[in-house]
Amino acid sequence: MTAAPSHTVSPAPQAPSRAGGELFTEERSAEVVAASFAHTPNARLQEVLTSLVHHLHAFVKEVELTEEEWGAAIDFLTRTGQMCSDVRQEFILLSDVLGVSMLVETINHRTGGTSTESTVLGPFHMTESPERQPGDDINLDGKGTPCLVSGQVTGPYGEPLAGATVDVWQTNEDGFYDVQQPGIQPPGNLRGLFTADAEGRFWFRSVVPRYYPIPDDGPVGQLLAATGRHPNRPAHLHFIVSAPGYRPVTTHVFVADSPYLDSDAVFGVKDSLIRDVPEVDDPARAAEVGLPNPFHTLTFDLTLLRADSPPVAAPPAPREADAQPTLAEGAFEGGAS
Ligand SMILES: [Fe+2]
Repeated sequence: MTAAPSHTVSPAPQAPSRAGGELFTEERSAEVVAASFAHTPNARLQEVLTSLVHHLHAFVKEVELTEEEWGAAIDFLTRTGQMCSDVRQEFILLSDVLGVSMLVETINHRTGGTSTESTVLGPFHMTESPERQPGDDINLDGKGTPCLVSGQVTGPYGEPLAGATVDVWQTNEDGFYDVQQPGIQPPGNLRGLFTADAEGRFWFRSVVPRYYPIPDDGPVGQLLAATGRHPNRPAHLHFIVSAPGYRPVTTHVFVADSPYLDSDAVFGVKDSLIRDVPEVDDPARAAEVGLPNPFHTLTFDLTLLRADSPPVAAPPAPREADAQPTLAEGAFEGGAS
């Protein structure tokens, strides 16, 4: 007797049993990766990484990133790191030209419209600026267009902040800081640490600053060139102002007629920080302040928040009709955060 042919199909080999996790799919890539952070001991680290992965995956899906583009991005970031040194921070520059530095600065120093707005510190601050006396001339090489800079530091109720420290630095008329031109500009040129008087007032003699380009000979410069952007920052004077019991502010005052006010390469300009720098033709006044006639004047009053003032809430989100879509709708549905 012959055995009847078998028509049964052998069952597929059983997949080895697998503990836990969902496998990677295109549809649920972000959720799968975010779930891998479930046991992160630091809750804030988990929150940041989970959000990062959701945004990053939504971005890759939205633009359908090609392998060549992924490779170009890796190469760009590699070269950005290789450009960094003790005197050059290309990653901060990248953050600057993408507006991330300004966004972090703005989120962390909201004023609610009641105090002087902040802007980026920039790379040219000296940790110990040379101490100056009221009225000093910080223009050590005598070049440039003379300018009288003055202002008053007050608290939120207009109370003068006697003894406030006013740290300033700026470019010369050619658009360079002293540290960029060793041997050409004297050390400490166009910078100084002043102490406000009993009425919170400060004044000093300087020159009108000039616009200048950020360093554009590296990968960030290539990004700007590839996108048709210029590397320039409008003319400005840097300030760090502080007083005991008040929140310090790091900011600039921008020269109203400077080029690039509406296209600052690092997005640092805020309307409230722009000032006219008019020319004054008054020989008697010039002699009184110790400047050649004519000269320019720049007045910048600053208001600091009290250190114990409550945090300022985020501004309301734009109305839906005004909002610009950036990521595919529904990209975050079912997020495993
Ligand atoms: Fe600057």
